[in-house]
Amino acid sequence: MITDAPPKPEQSPDNVLLVERIERFNDDDLHALCEATSAAVLDGGGFGWVTTPGRRALETYYRGVLLVPERVLFVARLNGEIVGSAHLVRPPRNNEAQAFAAQMMHAFIAPYARGHGLARALTLKVEEFARESGYQVLNLDVRETQEAAIRLYESLGYERWGVQPEYALVRGTVIRGFYYAKRLRPRKGQSAE
Ligand SMILES: CC(C)(COP(=O)(O)OP(=O)(O)OC[C@H]1O[C@@H](n2cnc3c(N)ncnc32)[C@H](O)[C@@H]1OP(=O)(O)O)[C@@H](O)C(=O)NCCC(=O)NCCS
Repeated sequence: MITDAPPKPEQSPDNVLLVERIERFNDDDLHALCEATSAAVLDGGGFGWVTTPGRRALETYYRGVLLVPERVLFVARLNGEIVGSAHLVRPPRNNEAQAFAAQMMHAFIAPYARGHGLARALTLKVEEFARESGYQVLNLDVRETQEAAIRLYESLGYERWGVQPEYALVRGTVIRGFYYAKRLRPRKGQSAE
């Protein structure tokens, strides 16, 4: 049973949902992304931060993300406003043995925009990009307490392959982490399902 997740708002046909890659920010987008991030961290986070960084630190962080060649930033918009994001992280160029696999990190939707299907759409967008970039596998990991995310990823076919007993330390509490992988293309010799 999900106990820590908010009730789902009504799906409204008037809401316009959009997920896309973002390569530069205008002031409104950067402001909205920082607001969404702060709100999600305050709500319990789940993507690294435990306490909300200040606005300047967040802006510097997101401007930095756009400069890292291994990172691709995707955003989710509700009625035009950025309300969440996710990173696709490519393997480092020296890691030839794992060049087939990318990672999705730091996925979140702000609490005020949840329940509209944006996280599902965001995940599918990241998968599509990864597949088109030639990656065969997408990896991700979540805290055991992120029950909505766990349900989402399992419903999208991610398979849990491992548990890290000491994954996160949140206000003195040790939290387990679950590691997931999804094959994006059939292995050579396997037929597509
Ligand atoms: C997990 C999270 C991204 C879901 O965002 P969302 O936009 O509300 O999710 P969606 O509306 O796309 O829902 C997709 C699926 O997620 C699951 N889900 C979402 N909200 C849920 C809830 N309150 N209870 C149970 N399952 C839920 C369901 O499987 C849902 O599918 P359904 O609508 O067919 O039942 C959001 O709750 C969040 O940001 N949580 C904190 C950060 C986090 O956990 N990030 C992921 C790992 S780092």
